[in-house]
Amino acid sequence: MSHSTEHFATPVAEVDAAAPDDGLVDETAPDEVDSAYGPSVQGSETTSLDPFTKEYRKEYGRTYHSYGSTEHWGPNDEKAQKQQDLSHHVWTLALKNELFLAPVKEPKNILDVGTGTGIWVIEVAERYLNATVTGIDVSPIQPLLVPINAFFQVDDYNLEWLDESKYNLIHGRELLGTSPSWPAIYQQALKALEPGGWYEQHEPSFSFLSDHGQLPANHPFAKWESLMTDAGEKTGLNFDVGNKIKSRMQAAGFVNVTEYRMQWDIGDWSEDEHRKIVGRWNQERISKGIADFCSRRLINHLSFTAQEVEIFCAHMRSALHDKELHPYHWCWFLLLILLNRQRIERTQAEGSPDMQLNTLGMLTRHKSVLLRTRIRKAGNSKVIHNEVPQQPARLPIPQW
Ligand SMILES: C[S@@+](CC[C@H](N)C(=O)[O-])C[C@H]1O[C@@H](n2cnc3c(N)ncnc32)[C@H](O)[C@@H]1O
Repeated sequence: MSHSTEHFATPVAEVDAAAPDDGLVDETAPDEVDSAYGPSVQGSETTSLDPFTKEYRKEYGRTYHSYGSTEHWGPNDEKAQKQQDLSHHVWTLALKNELFLAPVKEPKNILDVGTGTGIWVIEVAERYLNATVTGIDVSPIQPLLVPINAFFQVDDYNLEWLDESKYNLIHGRELLGTSPSWPAIYQQALKALEPGGWYEQHEPSFSFLSDHGQLPANHPFAKWESLMTDAGEKTGLNFDVGNKIKSRMQAAGFVNVTEYRMQWDIGDWSEDEHRKIVGRWNQERISKGIADFCSRRLINHLSFTAQEVEIFCAHMRSALHDKELHPYHWCWFLLLILLNRQRIERTQAEGSPDMQLNTLGMLTRHKSVLLRTRIRKAGNSKVIHNEVPQQPARLPIPQW
């Protein structure tokens, strides 16, 4: 997509040249490397990395990205990368080994926005050898040796996208709390998709619930929700994303939006075997990741000390392991196909006098209502508000 053209990967040759001659076997030497793997660069003009992008910011013993127009909440060091890969494991477990749900048959160009460690890109590239799979992120933390059809770029999806009619599939996962204007991103994604292309986003809710009903206001989950909501509002980067994707996409002009909501347990309290497994891993992932998720926001924006964050996270962890509570949260899966660009552009153009962005870049309430009415008349959006999609058969989402 490339607002910035800096690509971060170093060619293998440069890596080898820099390696110390210690007499040990170099496992990354070219003749040891699987020929389906290569450096993650896309041509000679893209082989250099601006050193600035690797000058990470250091806060309280963790490192954070330096490139980009917004401040991402998550660290990017090794510990954070392990956490992202653990999350990937939970998402693929939940989707029974599917990486996306869109029925894209023979993808040629796939884009993953906010790719993190790039694990999704690498696995998709391994499954779709004829596709070019590109991941973009503000942090250049992806591996150097990747399948030859996988590429990574340092880029910021909150800036203008330059690609037009290029992708068969654009995918984003766990991007909550990273954009001041989702409608703007959806408009850019619309432009970057080729007709017949799919946009797909998977988001967890940051709101933790109990199967037994409403929790008291002093419960750690209730405090968590209120603190993270405040932090989201203060930064203009709200975490409350999943349940709003559909209306935001519609506000950006998309029709044909399909929405799934899936319950993810926290812990293995379900009778159902698959839910039990996902729940067990999800509990592990959230307990391990909770401090990464909230520390920067609580310290920088809500005046917590590092010690106060630690204590709060300890309370959260014990609630996440509370067997009586039966905790869970929702995860959202949004899919849409771009069928007719002219029609959507017409809808946007008709709506354009009303589509003034406010300071956060969001549509104002009155005007978005007008726009939505118009879209509803177009009449082909779908909402499936339960955990088990009844249709369409081609979408391989798990049944539970
Ligand atoms: C929670 S991680 C999810 C990583 C990956 N999508 C996954 O599910 O494995 C969010 C990622 O979004 C990236 N990110 C945040 N803001 C971004 C932006 N404006 N442009 C590009 N990447 C961004 C972060 O650096 C981080 O790697």
